[in-house]
Amino acid sequence: MRKKLLLGNWKMNKTVGEAKEFASQTAELVKFAKANKVLVGVAPTYLCLETVKKKAKGMIVAAQNCHFEDKGAFTGEVSIPMLKDLGIKWCIIGHSERRTYDNETNEKCNKKIAKLVANDMVPVYCVGETLEQYEANDTKKVVKTQVEEGLANLPVDSVKNIVVAYEPVWAIGTGKNASEAIAEDICGFIRKTIRKMYGAKAANKVLVLYGGSVKPENIKAYLSQPNVDGALVGGASLKIDSYEAMLHNLVK
Ligand code: PGA
Repeated sequence: MRKKLLLGNWKMNKTVGEAKEFASQTAELVKFAKANKVLVGVAPTYLCLETVKKKAKGMIVAAQNCHFEDKGAFTGEVSIPMLKDLGIKWCIIGHSERRTYDNETNEKCNKKIAKLVANDMVPVYCVGETLEQYEANDTKKVVKTQVEEGLANLPVDSVKNIVVAYEPVWAIGTGKNASEAIAEDICGFIRKTIRKMYGAKAANKVLVLYGGSVKPENIKAYLSQPNVDGALVGGASLKIDSYEAMLHNLVK
């Protein structure tokens, strides 16, 4: 049985002080999550990783990005050895905001994912179509290419540990969430695509998340779908009360 995962994506939010405040209130929710076999985590900015890692014991702490080179002349970038040094084992890759504003391509994502799995780290690879592509009925075509190119040429044994997040761009931060039927259809399609690439054993273990305007009121509907193993949550993960409410509602 695959575990459920609730992962908060804090994006460019929270000072170190604010992140510390959130992290120091997580002991109860971590206990509850453990008792209910749910994985819980957050992805703060690089600046807050160390503080959150220290304070939010038992939570997954993920970076929001990394570079594929270990070091060198890449101003403003952070490498995988730097993250590992802080004890960070998870990293979001290819979020649609990075694809839009930072020219993150499937090829670049693939380089980062290959490097992460070679370091026994967990990539959370984000895929999803724009509104234009959705309206043109191109969702599966777009997502298939993102999965095939982003997850190309990985060692078969490493694939089972990868997490994929389906986040329709038109549903991110817009309040316009995709229906649970769409989420199930595309999350199942992602698993099928991975099965074709790496076989059933790997595909059955991969966690596939839905993301896009998830909140306490709708999380249960998504997580009740057989192919939706969890949620990647932006806005509703920023406040401890709403984070806790999502966790409680998803296990109900
Ligand atoms: P949202 O963001 O929950 O605020 O829509 C989700 C995401 O971008 O991961």
